[in-house]
Amino acid sequence: MSRLVKNLEILTDADKEACEVMRVTEEGKKGSSRKLYIESYGCQMNFSDSEIVTSILQEQGFDTTSDHTKADVILLNTCAIRDNAEQKVRNRLKHLVAVKHNNPQTVIGVLGCMAERLKAQLLEEEKIVDLVVGPDAYRDLPNLIAEADAGQKGVNVFLSREETYADITPVRLNTNGVTAFISIMRGCNNMCSFCVVPFTRGRERSRGYQSIVLEAQDLFAKGYREVTLLGQNVDSYNWVSEDGSEKVNFAQLLEKVALVHPDLRVRFSTSHPKDITDEVLYTMAKYENICKYIHLPAQSGNSRILNLMNRTYSREWYLDRVAAIRAILGDECGISTDMIAGFCTETEDEHQDTLSLMEMVHYDFAYMFAYSERPNTPAAKKLKDDIAELVKKRRLSEIISLQQRLSLERNKQDLHKVHKVLVEGFSKKSTDFLYGRNTANKVVVFPKKNYQKGQYVQVLVNECTAATLLGEAVDSI
Ligand code: SAH
Ligand code: SF4
Ligand code: F3S
Repeated sequence: MSRLVKNLEILTDADKEACEVMRVTEEGKKGSSRKLYIESYGCQMNFSDSEIVTSILQEQGFDTTSDHTKADVILLNTCAIRDNAEQKVRNRLKHLVAVKHNNPQTVIGVLGCMAERLKAQLLEEEKIVDLVVGPDAYRDLPNLIAEADAGQKGVNVFLSREETYADITPVRLNTNGVTAFISIMRGCNNMCSFCVVPFTRGRERSRGYQSIVLEAQDLFAKGYREVTLLGQNVDSYNWVSEDGSEKVNFAQLLEKVALVHPDLRVRFSTSHPKDITDEVLYTMAKYENICKYIHLPAQSGNSRILNLMNRTYSREWYLDRVAAIRAILGDECGISTDMIAGFCTETEDEHQDTLSLMEMVHYDFAYMFAYSERPNTPAAKKLKDDIAELVKKRRLSEIISLQQRLSLERNKQDLHKVHKVLVEGFSKKSTDFLYGRNTANKVVVFPKKNYQKGQYVQVLVNECTAATLLGEAVDSI
């Protein structure tokens, strides 16, 4: 995802969600098997879950298709983070009415966070939906599909305290064969007041490190050269063996994955400012193959707003963590954020604090959103969504323009330097150019010559935009 997102010059809410939809591209091979079409919305976790769902259904003899009109089962893996994310799914379901009309046997399922949030209500509201399945209930999909085949609509939104799908080998969808996600934990125990995730994904649980390391080894053996460890709050990864004798925290897990092979790059997302430790930063410094890039969402630059958001840190704490990153990893380390404009009761001065925090940190990149009240969250229950839409949008556009300048300034610091780039494929604009990323997660584009996908190439950067670095390969490694 970040690859797609990074290519956008300015990232608005709508842009982000527009590029967050991805369809299966692999065509089915076995003509006679039943066909599955799956479409994913939302965060990387959802994309990763779609790979688990595909694995579960392939075991049952399903084959994937990229043409939903040829599918026997159509699954939408949905996001509930903001209202417009849900509206997009509603619109998509409207389009699918025609498919159902032409072929009433087609099973249509809604998975993921919107399924979990709305539960059986979704069956009432969207008549074409046959299945509603929450993020912890994917093992039940084969049963639910069989019931749907027999005309029985089904809902399973059970949230588990244990499920991590550790034993399931994901079927890589839309893969470039170079980079892959590994889910290391599920759920979230933080209660950020604006956020629906704790309700849609349940309690936090950490997947056993052994299966994570095995998955990374397997990916490396298959030619992959980068893994991204995924969790809502990776710094609170905390695996404990059943008898309590063995414990692994996030810094230790990072080290174990880094040791899989020096040519396997390791990334991770998302870090929470309250939990990121110096031990994690020192582990990053110790291993060249742990990428020097941290996504550290601030959400706001004002301590009163942060308190209302229940982020459990202040502006000063956040700046202290950034200072630790700079002290341990230096100026080269990329830092990005998420920002919410117009949270409940936010004043103009408090909005200015967000802008000044952005200036101080000098972010490389940001995901920026207007606050969208989510039903039943602590903020919806206790606070008033009292900032006018127009004001939210204006504040958001100020945040976006500032980030545009900061990204360009940061990228200019990369000029006339050689960057180690892992090649991920052809550049969007031309097959004469390749693109990849440097350690700080910046997209680098350069002439192809004889270089290949999956190779590390040293690129001398000589031009840049706010979104991309451009250069010439000086040598492969
Ligand atoms: N676990 C991650 C965030 C996951 S949600 C973290 O803690 O940083 C991704 C982003 O969506 C959040 O960081 C936040 O910026 C945004 N977001 C979440 N709920 C939102 C809401 N109700 N309105 C607007 N943006 C929201
Ligand atoms: Fe939501 Fe906060 Fe958990 Fe992130 S840490 S998923 S913003 S509750
Ligand atoms: Fe959306 Fe759920 Fe991810 S709400 S952002 S898909 S965890």
